[in-house]
Amino acid sequence: MLNRKIQEEFNKQINEELASAYIYLSMAAYFESQNLKGMAGWMRVQAKEEQEHAMKFYGFINERGGRVQLESIAGPKTDWKSPLSAFEDAHKHEIHITGRINGLLELARKERDSAAEIFLHWFVSEQVEEESNVTEIVAKLKMIGESSSGLLYLDKELGKRGSKD
Ligand code: FEO
Repeated sequence: MLNRKIQEEFNKQINEELASAYIYLSMAAYFESQNLKGMAGWMRVQAKEEQEHAMKFYGFINERGGRVQLESIAGPKTDWKSPLSAFEDAHKHEIHITGRINGLLELARKERDSAAEIFLHWFVSEQVEEESNVTEIVAKLKMIGESSSGLLYLDKELGKRGSKD
């Protein structure tokens, strides 16, 4: 049986992951509106991954005999002043999620729930990758500055992620 505190926090994490999907889908819509289809595709893939993260928590709660309870998701921001500002927000958001995962890991250790601890290890590695991906894009966008050709090149590069799915 799943510990009540862990169940509560894992349910909150389902909400966090689905809210992440919503944020990235909103960023995808912003990039569509800017005719940056590659970045829009990258964000769509990201949104899909976040839904998969939510479903991992959903599966774990059920497998452990817990009860999934969904909460409402707040409306995301819909506009950004530049591609850089959108990716900077994505970076800040991933730092927030890393903090959440670390908090969950601490809780699992405190409650001596080894299964939850092992389950969370995947997310610890995933967060390293997610932060690193977005950090790289932010750095490239800073390098690009006001260059339209640089921006179009990066858009094309990031679009390759979307075309794989
Ligand atoms: Fe599910 Fe982007 O962390």
